[in-house]
Amino acid sequence: MTGRVDGPDKVTGRARYAFEHQVEGAAYAWAVPSVIARGTIRSVDAARALALPGVLTVLTPDNAPRLPGTDDPELALFQSREVAYRGQFVAAVVAGTLEVAREAAEGVVIEYDQAPHDVVLTADHPGLYKPDFVNPRYETDTAAGDFDGAFAAAAVRVDATYRTPAEHNHPMEPHATVASWRGDTLTVYDATQGPSRTAGQVAAVFGLEPGQVRVIAEHVGGGFGAKGMPRANVILAALAARVTGRPVKCAVTRPQMFAVTGHRAPSIQRMRLGAGPDGRLTALCHDVIGQTSTLKEFTEQSAVATRHMYAAPHRRTTHRVVRLDVPTPSWMRAPGECPGMFALESAMDELAEACGIDPVELRLRNEPAVHPETGQPFSSRHLTACLLQGAARFGWAGRDPAPGTRRAGNPRGRWLTGTGVAASTYPARAMPSQARVTVSPSGRYQVLIAAADIGTGARTALLVVAAEALGVPAAAIDLRIGDSALPPAMIAGGSMGTASWTWAVIKACRALRDQVRARDGAVPPGGLSARADTTADIGALPARARYAFGAQFAEVRVDADTGEVRVPRLLGVFAAGRIVSPAQARSQLIGGMTMGLSMALHEESAMDPQFGDYPNHDLAGYHIAAHADVQDIDAVWIDEDEPDLGPAGAKGIGEVGIVGTAAAIASAVYHATGIRVRDLPIRLDMRSRRSRPRAATTCAWAVTSAWSTGPWTWPS
Ligand code: MOS
Repeated sequence: MTGRVDGPDKVTGRARYAFEHQVEGAAYAWAVPSVIARGTIRSVDAARALALPGVLTVLTPDNAPRLPGTDDPELALFQSREVAYRGQFVAAVVAGTLEVAREAAEGVVIEYDQAPHDVVLTADHPGLYKPDFVNPRYETDTAAGDFDGAFAAAAVRVDATYRTPAEHNHPMEPHATVASWRGDTLTVYDATQGPSRTAGQVAAVFGLEPGQVRVIAEHVGGGFGAKGMPRANVILAALAARVTGRPVKCAVTRPQMFAVTGHRAPSIQRMRLGAGPDGRLTALCHDVIGQTSTLKEFTEQSAVATRHMYAAPHRRTTHRVVRLDVPTPSWMRAPGECPGMFALESAMDELAEACGIDPVELRLRNEPAVHPETGQPFSSRHLTACLLQGAARFGWAGRDPAPGTRRAGNPRGRWLTGTGVAASTYPARAMPSQARVTVSPSGRYQVLIAAADIGTGARTALLVVAAEALGVPAAAIDLRIGDSALPPAMIAGGSMGTASWTWAVIKACRALRDQVRARDGAVPPGGLSARADTTADIGALPARARYAFGAQFAEVRVDADTGEVRVPRLLGVFAAGRIVSPAQARSQLIGGMTMGLSMALHEESAMDPQFGDYPNHDLAGYHIAAHADVQDIDAVWIDEDEPDLGPAGAKGIGEVGIVGTAAAIASAVYHATGIRVRDLPIRLDMRSRRSRPRAATTCAWAVTSAWSTGPWTWPS
């Protein structure tokens, strides 16, 4: 067990986050957001703002420097008068202090020609279309066999529609940048998951060579995908620094994060499962409807996990998307798998009930021998082991499947109880990365890679593998990460950081170790170094289906009077390759499960159709699970070694923990109450009259129709 190497820096406050970097003569940029969801800027009157002492400039579409690279319209800041969504940055004040910039921003008067907006996703929206691919580059639709025929002929059928709301990532550290220019080179301290990628993209926006932009991210307070790509704050800080000739600091406020830093798009997902009486799937179809913005296409790939989870000869997956006048959706922890597996795993629970088969057993019966759509072998697949080990640890055996019959403690008490299970999965991949390792004559090692530690424990994991590969104690190694001036590396995203970076680091370390050994340990006065690049190794990977798997078990209690749901127990059992750094891995996995609990019970960015915005745009209105919501939560893993993805044998753990949690909790709520919740978050007190408990269960809240969820209130 290794402690987190940056733990002392974090708890003592020595660790610096982007905004905290001290730069000489800093100015501050404060963005002005659009107050309309669609239309054109007619005029910007900055006179009042400019009259405030300390204001350096007001950037608007009229005066902002033209940007040569506008491939990403979210980064083409102030390049157009068109407004694509409410909250889009349309101007900014730069001033000598943060307070003056903020005050002056209130005085910028913008007149708009407002156009009618369309911000509500519906299953029959006339604008729905088939995108060319879904995030990041998956096929939009797949099909095998004759789904319609097989479904019609199936002995047991489930046909149900599940909905997930818009959700926002909300890392603890909001997006922030400090930018300064020296001639034509730009240095930014940025809250990013990927210094190399951000440097490349920012350089492209300003028409520079990648080497002209340096991105430093020593410590990053979470990301969950929101910091996987540069956002408007980087461009704003760099533009403002260019115009004023001073270093500029720019922090995105929590309310602004609801607009400009990405979110998980809402989904409407129809699942159809056809099976024999023995529960074996014959037909499987997952149809997904989602939304993107008018600026940029991002289609959440919610049906992709359905392509590899279960065997079924007749199958189909589809994605349709509509462009709405909403902020651009983006990556949020397990984009695709997370909302998609809520639908698939909930439907599997419904099928288990329809067949009268235990839900663990149902999944075992539908294990595929090879990838059900491509026929590729799995590099390793241990879902069965996860389910069986989880069932044993959780105490699943002998579970009475009858819903709505158990009360905690006193049989006449108010807490209904139930348990649920769901599978989890996430792709296992690695992306090309480079690393450099040096050793000095005194025996000090340096390991250099532009990785990012966004709170995951990456520093610790890299130090563990470097020490092992070099055959020296970790104390002899200085690890440098979080700087695009270091050898370029994959972002901390897609659960690919560990596999990608350890591959390059171990390769470089072994090469250096061989050099040192060849000289019998004598390091010349100039030292020795080795460099590794994994591009060719990754290009030569055999065609295999590579995924991490897991099994999530949940116990819930539901207050029969108020509908309040508590989750006293969560257990996740994962198969994710070799676990490089156990203490950090456990933290990542229970973090993912906690975020899944949060998704199940709390998280919803509610769209106000009248203003075209999220009115609950702060952490008071957008509730995220807190410590009090989390009770007995545990994550364990089985021994597994991924054979393909580099010498560490790791598959990645950043995302598999969140996948399936919400389905396990929703299934447990069904088991407790007899009410099948197919739309997240689970709010039994808000149920509309379409849900009724089974006759056997009478609960005050479930038969109340006073809680209307019509179209003008919060979507249910
Ligand atoms: Mo993760 S959503 O790929 O950073």
